[in-house]
Amino acid sequence: MDVIADQKTKLGEAAAAFVSSPRKMLIDGDWVEAASGKTFATIDPATNREIVQVAEGDAADVDKAARAARRAFEEGEWPRMRPCARERLLLRLADLIEANAEELAELEALDQGKPVMFARHADVAMAIDFVRYMAGWATKIEGSTIDVSMPMVPDAEFHAYTTREPVGVVGQIIPWNFPLLMAVWKLAPALAAGCTVILKPAEQTPLTALRLGELVMEAGFPKGVVNIVPGYGHTAGAAIVDHPEVDKIAFTGSTEVGKIIGANAMKTMKRVSLELGGKSPAIVMADADLDMAVQGAAQAIMFNTGQVCTAGSRLFVERKIFDKVTEGVAEVIKAMQLGPGLDPATQLGPVVSKEQQARIGGYLQAGFEAGAKALCGGKVIEGEGCFVEPTIFVDVKPDMQVVREEIFGPVVVAQPIDDVNDIAAMANDTIYGLAASVWSNDLRFVHRLVPRLKAGTVWVNCHNLVDPALPFGGYKQSGIGREMGAAVFHEYTETKSVCMMV
Ligand code: NAI
Ligand code: MG
Repeated sequence: MDVIADQKTKLGEAAAAFVSSPRKMLIDGDWVEAASGKTFATIDPATNREIVQVAEGDAADVDKAARAARRAFEEGEWPRMRPCARERLLLRLADLIEANAEELAELEALDQGKPVMFARHADVAMAIDFVRYMAGWATKIEGSTIDVSMPMVPDAEFHAYTTREPVGVVGQIIPWNFPLLMAVWKLAPALAAGCTVILKPAEQTPLTALRLGELVMEAGFPKGVVNIVPGYGHTAGAAIVDHPEVDKIAFTGSTEVGKIIGANAMKTMKRVSLELGGKSPAIVMADADLDMAVQGAAQAIMFNTGQVCTAGSRLFVERKIFDKVTEGVAEVIKAMQLGPGLDPATQLGPVVSKEQQARIGGYLQAGFEAGAKALCGGKVIEGEGCFVEPTIFVDVKPDMQVVREEIFGPVVVAQPIDDVNDIAAMANDTIYGLAASVWSNDLRFVHRLVPRLKAGTVWVNCHNLVDPALPFGGYKQSGIGREMGAAVFHEYTETKSVCMMV
C-alpha cells in the first residue's frame, strides 16, 4: 500500500476543529479531565497516526459519573419529566445529529477507518432515524390492568395493575465497529425509558461518542442524565460493571468479555443485556437470483471490512452452483477499492487497529496451515495502515478454526451443500446464533428452513439490514436480551405490580 497522507488534512472545518485539541469527558454536565490527569491517543487506522489525545477515565471518574447519574435519577427532573418532554429532547438531539451529520461522518471515517460514504449513509443516517424512532417510545411505555382472584380474601374487591418504571442508572459499554450508531442504540431507548446513563465508548474510537455528548448537552438534557467516560475496558469498563450505583449493564462486544461482564454483574444482581459475537451463515440455494446472491454474499461479509457482529462469515452454497457463486464472490471482492476512509473512492477501509490486523493475520495463517485454499486475498497488507486483503476460503472443514471462530475481518469461508436436509444442522453448527441469511425464491423451502435456524435475525434475500422497529439480539452465545423495537423496553424498565384492596 502506498504511504497515505495525514487524513486530518482532508477533514472539513468542523471536524478539524474537533480534533485540534485534547478531548475531555462528560460528567454531570461538565467537560472534565480524568481525575488521574491521564490521556490516551486515538489512532487513525489508515495511517496508524495519532489523531488526538482523549481523557482516560478509570474507576475514580466512573465513580463520579455513577454518583452524578444516581443524583440525576433520584433527585433530578429526568425520570419524572413529562414523557412528551423527554420525547421532545430526543427529537431535538436527532435534529442536532442531522445538522452536524457531515462532521460526525468525517470523524467516524477518520477514527474508525470506514469509508466516509458508508459513515454518512449508514452510520449517521441510521443514528438519526433510530433516535427519532426511540423518541416516540417515551410516550408509549405502558402497563396493564389485571383481574385478580385472591383466594385468601374471597369477598374483597381489588384494583390491580402493573407499571413500567425506568430501571435506574444504566452502564453502557460499546465497541468500535459502529461507534456513533452503537452509542445511540444504547442511549436512546434508555433515555426514552427515563433512565440515566454512563456510556463508555471503545478505546479505539471515542470521538463520535464525545461529539454526541456535546450535542446531548446542546439539546438541553439535564446534567448528569448522560455521562460519557472514555477509557479502557479492564479499568473504566470493569469499574462500571462493579459500581454499586449502577443498576443495569448493556454491553456490545466480544463473547469473551460478555461472559466476564455477565458474571461480574451478578455479584450485585445488575440487570444485563449482552449483544455479542457471531459466525452467521449466508445460505445460497440453486434457485436464487444468482447475481443478487453473489453481490449479497460479498456485501454480507465485506460491509464495514467484515467488522459487523452479523457478518455473513460462513457461506453455504448448493453444490451445483458452488464454483459459480464462490468465484463470483471472489470477483466482486477482488474489485473492491481499498483505501483510507476519507478518500471518496474507497470501498473497503482498513480494519480498526494493528491488534485486529494481527489477529486477522493469525486466522489467515491458521486457515492455510489447516489446508484451506484462498480464491483471492489471503494476506495482511504490509505498511503503516491496518489493511487486510479481502479473502474467500474454500476447501474448508467444519472443525477448522477459520470456520468455528469469529474472525471479525474481511474473511469468509465457503462450504458446499450436498443435501438440503443438512442445511439447518450445518448452519447451526456454531456456538453463536446472531443472524443468518437465506438466498432463495422457493417460498415453501424458506418457510420450512427459517424456524429451524437458531438465530435472532433471519434475512431472506438480503443481509445486514437492521431497523429500529425490529428486535435485534442473539440466540446461544451471541447474547442475552433484545435491542430495538418494543422489546428493548423490557431491558430498560422494571415491572411493578400494584394490588389495591378497594
Ligand atoms: P472487546 O469485547 O474487548 O471490547 C468491547 C468493549 O468492551 C470496549 O468498550 C472495551 O473497552 C470493553 N471491555 C473490554 N474488556 C472489558 C472488561 N473486562 N470489562 C468491561 N468492559 C470491557 O472487543 P475487542 O477486544 O475490541 O475485539 C476483540 C474481538 O471481539 C473482535 O475481534 C471481535 O471478534 C469481537 N467483537 C465483537 C463485536 C460485536 O459487535 N459483536 C464488537 C467488537 C468486537
Ligand atoms: Mg481510533
